[in-house]
Order: sequence, then structure tokens, then C-alpha cells
Amino acid sequence: MTALQQNSIGDSLQWAQRHLSGQVSDARLEAQLLLAHVLQVPRTHLLAWPEKTITPASLAAFRQLVRRRRSGVPVAYLTGHKEFWSLPLKVSSATLIPRPETETLVEVALQLITDLPRPVIADLGTGSGAVALAIASERTDAWLLAADLSMTALQTARTNARHLGLPQCRFALLDWCGGLATQAFDLIVTNPPYIESTDPALRQRELRFEPALALSSGKTGLHAIEQVCTGARTALKPGGWLALEHGWQQKTAVIACLEEHNYRNINSFRDFAGHDRVCIAQV
Ligand SMILES: C[S@@+](CC[C@H](N)C(=O)[O-])C[C@H]1O[C@@H](n2cnc3c(N)ncnc32)[C@H](O)[C@@H]1O
Repeated sequence: MTALQQNSIGDSLQWAQRHLSGQVSDARLEAQLLLAHVLQVPRTHLLAWPEKTITPASLAAFRQLVRRRRSGVPVAYLTGHKEFWSLPLKVSSATLIPRPETETLVEVALQLITDLPRPVIADLGTGSGAVALAIASERTDAWLLAADLSMTALQTARTNARHLGLPQCRFALLDWCGGLATQAFDLIVTNPPYIESTDPALRQRELRFEPALALSSGKTGLHAIEQVCTGARTALKPGGWLALEHGWQQKTAVIACLEEHNYRNINSFRDFAGHDRVCIAQV
């Protein structure tokens, strides 16, 4: 192998890897993601051309990103992108970075509407649009309302829908179910904020960069879930389903809330890591 020149792709990656090592879970991968972003090339390009030199401007931009990553800023906020359900999504500091475990919510939601033609669905707290757009990508006959209390998040979600060519998604500024029509939806899905507002994790490494509105919900973490359980009853058609994501220790509390609001056919699902993650219930 030829020796790498200073300012080559390979040399820059090695520098970044050393810089990030011990600070992030996969320094090699993250260094590649950041350099691929700066150079606007696929990661495979970096592996194929380690000896190529990069311009001083690109090098400076890369080093700046690596330093910000070292200080804790999530990679997705540095690149402005995150993949969810194999869809490339734009994210911003106003949106949660979609989590892999939320794909469980999408899987469960899709199962609930398998036999239903042209389902009418609401995704409450849509953020980047992750859940609504994943469902829309699988069910082109569905009509979706994606709502959020953050106008900035909604703008990102709308941009994602346009880039992905999913015109059956509409967007609305709503406070949970407030403003939803009565008995209008076959399915309401939501991944609401569910962390206790006093949880110290909110101030640690990456979470501190995400919007508080997307993460925490009152002292118990259950405030948003309670709001949705209350409001969804009237917004769902008779026989309609509510599917909601929750924290891994919240299953019992969520089921109690659903029972209190007289939902039936309550069921619970685990994510790929084996954690209780999603509850469904029918009106
Ligand atoms: C956990 S994030 C989920 C984002 C996205 N659905 C996802 O799974 O990546 C919760 C979302 O709820 C939104 N939200 C918070 N309070 C809300 C409210 N009162 N009404 C509607 N949306 C709200 C936040 O802005 C945030 O986008």
C-alpha cells in the first residue's frame, strides 16, 4: 500500500478516528460519515480512494465537524440526515433524530391496517415525519395527517414528504388531538415525548442537543400519553386503533391509562432489543 499523503482522505480519516476514539461508540464509522458528508460522496468512495487529497477548505470543514462531534453534537445534526425505515430523512435541531426502535411502531401500525383499503391515519407528534412517511411509503393508498406542535419540525416533515414523493401526507400544527375531527381516523399513531422531566439523562451527551419538546413530558413522563389516550377516543372511528410508543418501563402505566379510558383489545409489543415499546388499543 502506498504511504498516505498529509491531507489525503485516508490520513484525514485516521486523524478523525484518533480524535473521536473513546468519545463515540464507533469512531471509524462516524469519521467516514462526516467526511462523506463534507465531500458529498458515498462512503464507498472514501474506501476506494484513500490516497486522494482533499482541499484545504474541505479539510477545515471536516475538522470542525469532528470537533463538534467530539463535544457531543449528534452525527445526524451535523450531516442534517438520518435514515429511518430505509428512507433518507432530513433532520434539524427542531426534530427528534428518529430512533431505530420506532420502526416497531411502524411495523405494528402496518399490521393493524393490513386488510383496510384507503386507511385514514393521523401521526401525532410527527417530528421529521418519520412514522407517517414510513407508513405512506408502504401504503400508497393511505391518507395521512402528520401533526406537531412545532412549526419548524413540520416544515422539515413537509420537505421530507416532498423529497420522497409522498403526496398523500398532509401537515397540521396541532396540540395532540385538539382540532382533530370527530370519528375521522382508522388509526392514530404516536411516538410522543415520554421521559420524566427530572431525568438527568436529558442533560447528558447527545440528548441535550435534541428539543425538550420532543423528549420530556411532565414529572412522570406520561403527560403526553394521557393527553393522546383521552383525545384519540373521540377522533377515532368506531373500531379504530390507537398505537403508541412508550418508554421501556411504562407498559403497565400505559395499559392502565388505556383501560381507564375504556379502550378494548389492548396489546403490547417489544422492540428488537426485547424492550416493551408499543401499546395498541381499539375503541
Ligand atoms: C419523541 S418525538 C417523535 C418524533 C417522530 N414522530 C419520531 O418518531 O421520530 C415527539 C414529537 O412530539 C411533538 N410534540 C410535543 N408536544 C406536542 C403537542 N402538545 N402536540 C403535538 N406534538 C407535540 C414534538 O415536537 C416532537 O416532534
